[in-house]
Amino acid sequence: MSRLRAAIVGATGLAGQQFIAALANHPTFEITALAASSRSAGKTYKDAIRTEKGAIQWFTSIALPEKVASMSVEDAEQLDASKVDVVFTAVESGPAKLLEPKYAKTTPVLSTASAFRYEADVPLILPGVNAEHAQLIDTQRKQRGWKGYILPNPNCTTVGLAYSLAPLHRAYGVKRVHMVSMQSVSGAGRSPGVIGLDIIDNLIPYIPDEEGKVEKETLKILGTLTDGKIEAASIAVSSTCTRVSVLEGHTEVVHVELARATTEAEITATWRGFGREFLAAGYPSAPPALIHVHEDPFRPQPRLDRDLNDGMTTAIGRLRRDEHSPNGWKYVLVSHNTKMGAAKGCILVAEHLAATGYLG
Ligand SMILES: NC(=O)c1ccc[n+]([C@@H]2O[C@H](COP(=O)([O-])OP(=O)(O)OC[C@H]3O[C@@H](n4cnc5c(N)ncnc54)[C@H](OP(=O)(O)O)[C@@H]3O)[C@@H](O)[C@H]2O)c1
Repeated sequence: MSRLRAAIVGATGLAGQQFIAALANHPTFEITALAASSRSAGKTYKDAIRTEKGAIQWFTSIALPEKVASMSVEDAEQLDASKVDVVFTAVESGPAKLLEPKYAKTTPVLSTASAFRYEADVPLILPGVNAEHAQLIDTQRKQRGWKGYILPNPNCTTVGLAYSLAPLHRAYGVKRVHMVSMQSVSGAGRSPGVIGLDIIDNLIPYIPDEEGKVEKETLKILGTLTDGKIEAASIAVSSTCTRVSVLEGHTEVVHVELARATTEAEITATWRGFGREFLAAGYPSAPPALIHVHEDPFRPQPRLDRDLNDGMTTAIGRLRRDEHSPNGWKYVLVSHNTKMGAAKGCILVAEHLAATGYLG
């Protein structure tokens, strides 16, 4: 069977490069088009990521695939989406707002950008958590008159938090959450990104717009789809998002208040067993487990845990009672921001959509 043709828009950026890495030898998708801004248009991919001084700014741990290196980069505004089966977009929200509806007229668009995340007819799918929300795609297509659709990924900080909360919410009910993040530098992208001089030996206590995204998205993901609408979960979510001197992997310190009493052993077992049904489908980008629980109190750490199962598993540790709140618990998690939190997470959703008739 021939593979589905995929375009990557924003292919030169950090998330775009992770799309290239994850699709390099993919059994379902084949990269047939690359696009970026007019700055890169008309160049070969290798030239588009080469600086004036000659540095090739390839960021991922696999070698730049030769076929991709010599492909021509198109201007995203000129990309003919009807020539591919799926468009993966990895551009900032501003260009995404203009480009994605244009592509969606003919073709499904899976996006890492926030531009459409909060629209009522747009689901936010986290693999293994709320795949049933994909039905909203039918409503979106009907309402907007599109052959394709727009399906954004949740924000990279939301991803780890929502993975840790989803099993707890199902098993015990979550009433209240407080989260403090320590986010990696790659989360800010390459342009403009974070300047080394500002972040080394430092912590920046504010990431514009991030806290609102985490709070809204968590409620949407954990919400229920009823009569063609997502009813947001009723949980008090509060967060403080900070940037730290770590290359990849977001660390989050979470305090959660559950609706009923439970034990450390029960929570650990709930996390460890989470997502088995989804994982049984055997999707190529799926990890063996969505959540890994550490008993070692010095874990998780971003450097040691972000690449667990190629960055597709949320690592959790330091689970303990919070004696100051009823049914309160505390823990720390690490989640890979450019893999499960962006490109490869998007691809896992695409694999599920291809298997359930929404792609191809
Ligand atoms: N980095 C992460 O950890 C992460 C995680 C989750 C979600 N995201 C989201 O993913 C998106 C991309 O982030 P990133 O970190 O990859 O950013 P980035 O490294 O700065 O890359 C931005 C990409 O967008 C392209 N671009 C810029 N302006 C454009 C325009 N007007 N039209 C078409 N393409 C344009 C750039 O192309 P040129 O090279 O030609 O300028 C580049 O390919 C953002 O929405 C971000 O919020 C990022």
